[in-house]
Amino acid sequence: MIFAIAIDGPSGAGKSSMAKALSKILGCIYVDTGAIYRTVALAVRRAEADPRDAEAVERLLPKIDISIEYNPQLGQRMMLCGEDVSALIRTTEISKYASDVSAIPAVRAFLLELQRGLARKSSVIMDGRDIGTVVLPDAQVKIFLTAAPEERARRRQRENEEKGIPSTYEDILANIIYRDKQDTERAAAPLKPAEDAVRVDTTALSFDESVAALLDVVRAKLGALPAGEGSGE
Ligand code: DC
Repeated sequence: MIFAIAIDGPSGAGKSSMAKALSKILGCIYVDTGAIYRTVALAVRRAEADPRDAEAVERLLPKIDISIEYNPQLGQRMMLCGEDVSALIRTTEISKYASDVSAIPAVRAFLLELQRGLARKSSVIMDGRDIGTVVLPDAQVKIFLTAAPEERARRRQRENEEKGIPSTYEDILANIIYRDKQDTERAAAPLKPAEDAVRVDTTALSFDESVAALLDVVRAKLGALPAGEGSGE
């Protein structure tokens, strides 16, 4: 049986680390849709276009050649015109550009079928902002993952330190607050929980406690856990 698990929530709530952990346990693909928006953002940045100028961005779309590859070791790789840009899309500047371009309806329409196609081919855990509401409204499991902004900024700062990406807590918090506001208030597919989503707040939960909480939700919705559980992978 093919299944789809949608995880939505604000930036830094732990969606990607939770989705990665669950995808290993459940033996399915993890689709990071934020990375797809970030790749459009990088293309807009490279074209030196204003990410808030909807018409300029829309004119660029036909020239943006995005594809996704799945590498057994590295997971999802984002390709822009054949170049692997997976590392280049992780800067704070591109985060802001991504939030800007993702508010443009033509960008969302451009990426919709790409995302749906992935879920038709195999079981997925897909994270983003509008997966349960727009992209996969029929997903069997919908989770709205959240945490306090200060805690999200602390986690992102730790992550950046581990990856050697220079950043300050203050800049990250400001970026998170900017994106929360813009992602929630935009007219096109705003960030909001689907009516049938289960809300999980991880502010006070450790990584393992958060994974356990999400597995409880998956179990309650899918019945027995799909193959892959306990494989130790
Ligand atoms: O999850 P992320 O931080 O990598 O996402 C980058 C930006 O893309 C974020 O500000 C909101 C946007 N986004 C979106 O609008 N819809 C999605 N499904 C995923 C991300």
